Amino acid sequence: LTTVSPLIAGNWKMNGLTHSLSELAELARLLTTGEAPRAVVVVCPPATLLAAVAAQGASSGILAGGQDCHVAAQGPHTGDIAAAMIADAGGQFVIVGHSERRADHGETDEVVRAKAEAAIGAGLSPIICVGETEAQRDAGEAEAVVADQLARSVPDAAGSHQVEVAYEPVWAIGSGRTPSLEEIATMHKAIRDRLVDRFGVSRGEAIRILYGGSMKPHNAREILGVDNVNGGLVGGASLLANDFYTIISAV
Ligand code: G3P
Repeated sequence: LTTVSPLIAGNWKMNGLTHSLSELAELARLLTTGEAPRAVVVVCPPATLLAAVAAQGASSGILAGGQDCHVAAQGPHTGDIAAAMIADAGGQFVIVGHSERRADHGETDEVVRAKAEAAIGAGLSPIICVGETEAQRDAGEAEAVVADQLARSVPDAAGSHQVEVAYEPVWAIGSGRTPSLEEIATMHKAIRDRLVDRFGVSRGEAIRILYGGSMKPHNAREILGVDNVNGGLVGGASLLANDFYTIISAV
């Protein structure tokens, strides 16, 4: 069993305008008036709100993260954001390789790995996403697909720097469907074994493996109780302070 502290990250995706900061204020209120959370709490808003979330979250222990970064440190890449800019805005984490970016922007494992390396270079902790499609699961290929993504997307630097891995089965994202607890346990154990094989016991066990995909207030406690689940990456349910707080409190 791992002893790493749990982490719950909210991924707002392309949702959130200035008024969403009132949800953040409510989350901060819940976190500071209720029992102290056991989990590290991270909110990854759209880039337009990153600095505001970092500033506003600081007093309640809410950490901020980006949703993507470029592989390059700076330069002629219109519309992109460098890892150092996320750090400069107050972020400490960045999601890389989310399946929506892999699908929408054609990001390959090699690109994801380069982004994770760029993040580490800027002092951020990358949250590296992996996960199979429904067709791949139906074909019995889920573990092989995820193992391959891990091998290619997780940089060697993960052996000496903090990174998180997020297992997000693509078919569970935004669908209200989740794998069974047994399926989650099997996959998270397989991921753990790969990490330990590659980085050794102490590093391999220190890497958090987050579960993502339709994590909700009603199922968070049981999912977060599964061995080798060290937290969650939460989409839709992170947009409402009460729901997100319930998930954070389920750790
Ligand atoms: O990154 C989080 C995510 O993809 C899960 O989204 O809405 O199913 O919780 P959701």
